[in-house]
Amino acid sequence: MVVLFYKTKTMENIKLKDKIFKPYMCKEEIEQIINDLAVKLKEEYKDKDPLFIAILNGSFIFAADLMKQLDFPCRISFIKVCSYEGICTSNNIKQLIGLKENLENENIVILEDIIDTGITIEGIINTINMQKPASVKVCTFLFKPESFIKSYKIDFIGKSIPNDFVVGYGLDYDGYGRNIPSIYQIKL
Ligand code: IMP
Ligand code: MG
Repeated sequence: MVVLFYKTKTMENIKLKDKIFKPYMCKEEIEQIINDLAVKLKEEYKDKDPLFIAILNGSFIFAADLMKQLDFPCRISFIKVCSYEGICTSNNIKQLIGLKENLENENIVILEDIIDTGITIEGIINTINMQKPASVKVCTFLFKPESFIKSYKIDFIGKSIPNDFVVGYGLDYDGYGRNIPSIYQIKL
């Protein structure tokens, strides 16, 4: 399989598999977003000993960059989400793989790369709530308000973006593009 990834000047388009993507957010903008989120998280969690739960695969870069900016006591754990497709999707309970911690009485902050319809994150919140944590909030790097179909509040949002597909900084197109250090948007 041929994957073309033209890593030249940041202002150039890139090609991943069959699609062309154009530059959308530069490294400096991403850095600023991370710093702003870190300030807000510190305000709320500096004395609360939070447990961050990062959702793999997409959030691995975001979570790593954010954690480096948090200068107060906190912990992080990584999970993968597995839905029971075709068996019991209706109750929206997700199986969370990799979670060893007991979440009872913990202040949980879920870290997501992007929230689109909100279906994935709702399932994760429902499953985490079954363990009776003290609190659960959501921190997402990107948010697509136009496609969000849920009514609950997203507590910490890095940036709201239009309903166009983006890649880079952990986000993928069919597995590719996670390693790109900035964000690219699909060229329609
Ligand atoms: P939701 O359940 O519709 O909110 O979908 C969330 C998941 O869809 C994210 O965790 C991503 O894996 C994926 N996703 C949604 N939009 C994009 C995008 O623009 N680029 C890459 N992945 C996306
Ligand atoms: Mg994801």
